[in-house]
Amino acid sequence: MTTPHTIAVLGLGRMGDAMATRLTSQGWDVVGWTRSGRTSGAVETSADPNEAVAKAGLVLLALFDGPACRQVLDEVRDVLRTDTIVLNTSTVAPAEAAKLARRLGPSYVHAPVLGSVPAAVAGALRILAAGDPDALDRVRPVLETLGTVRRVDDASTAAALKLIANNSLAGAVLALRDSLRQADALGLSRAQVLDVLELGRLGGLVTAKRPFLVGESAAVTAEFTIGALAKDMALLAAASNTPLRSAAGLADASADPEADIAVAATAPAVADAVLEPLRAYLRGHATGDPTHFREAFLPTAHIEGIRDGVFVSWRLDEYCALFPGRPAPDETARSRRIDAVDVHGTVATATMTLRHGADTFTDIFLLVRADDSWRIANKAYHRHS
Ligand SMILES: NC(=O)c1ccc[n+]([C@@H]2O[C@H](COP(=O)([O-])OP(=O)(O)OC[C@H]3O[C@@H](n4cnc5c(N)ncnc54)[C@H](OP(=O)(O)O)[C@@H]3O)[C@@H](O)[C@H]2O)c1
Repeated sequence: MTTPHTIAVLGLGRMGDAMATRLTSQGWDVVGWTRSGRTSGAVETSADPNEAVAKAGLVLLALFDGPACRQVLDEVRDVLRTDTIVLNTSTVAPAEAAKLARRLGPSYVHAPVLGSVPAAVAGALRILAAGDPDALDRVRPVLETLGTVRRVDDASTAAALKLIANNSLAGAVLALRDSLRQADALGLSRAQVLDVLELGRLGGLVTAKRPFLVGESAAVTAEFTIGALAKDMALLAAASNTPLRSAAGLADASADPEADIAVAATAPAVADAVLEPLRAYLRGHATGDPTHFREAFLPTAHIEGIRDGVFVSWRLDEYCALFPGRPAPDETARSRRIDAVDVHGTVATATMTLRHGADTFTDIFLLVRADDSWRIANKAYHRHS
């Protein structure tokens, strides 16, 4: 068992370049290649992946996704010896990782990494490594140059754990976005808000990403892009076949996919226009005046739910007839809030909670933007007694 000394790093993007730089600085012979032909300051590069692979006993992949891994491996198939270790640090789907492991056999090590560019440069990545014990022993000195190693049973599990880890990162970005939106709505100063957030659970993220959060992103290079994290969340949602809010949350960020993930936390709150019919609906309840419901709903709307165990579907006229034109006697004790609004181009969904005396209602709305204004197309509700 010997550790190969020459390493071909295929993919010199953010992570590939940082890992190649770290390995070079620690005395490994590195030859890099990347599709675009871009060269790397500290690392010898080749214009031909076959040339790079032919020189190496270990091939480290730092590619965007599973299809990129397949394409690059196809390209170097003829020069890849059976005893050449392929160490894949890319974040791919569990099924893609399993397929690569089957294709390359005992010389394949799947090793997705936790941590970004600064951790790679400092040799402080956390690496989830899965592979044949012999191959793992051979690559261990290389992995330990890049960070600390946690052994995982198989490639598919390593890939799945990596996606779960990134889901927590996506959740943190979206939690930060919620906090910044609420703070903006309260008119608080961004600098003051970030100072306070740095003291709490999101502190590490806020400290690391502060320039992006104060609008200085042009001056700083993206370390981990919205596009890459959105790719990971799409892979997770597809693999789990279970709803995943962070997948939609990042896809909706309306920011440049090449921007750093922190820029997604600065995406503006939902536009006032989509809130207008929801606010008219709230006024309808507060005043008991059905005119507000006619403003809020499309004339074709239906209001639907289960009443006394039976499904009821009211047309808008029938619904409006339920309101007497004056507030309910206990109006001052009632409360209502908009819980969520998700806009997708010309359609949106919204959820509200209404506390009316002993009853709490969950209202779910479908909205559409027609003729440049938003209206509620339909409402369904549940009455919690
Ligand atoms: N950045 C992070 O903080 C971070 C942290 C942990 C894990 N990861 C994961 O690590 C991997 C690399 O991330 P990154 O941030 O370095 O991404 P990146 O900067 O976008 O680099 C992606 C690399 O993949 C190459 N590539 C993309 N599509 C290709 C294709 N079809 N054929 C050949 N090469 C292709 C690019 O080549 P060219 O640019 O030369 O065209 C580039 O070298 C991803 O799987 C990512 O999810 C990233």
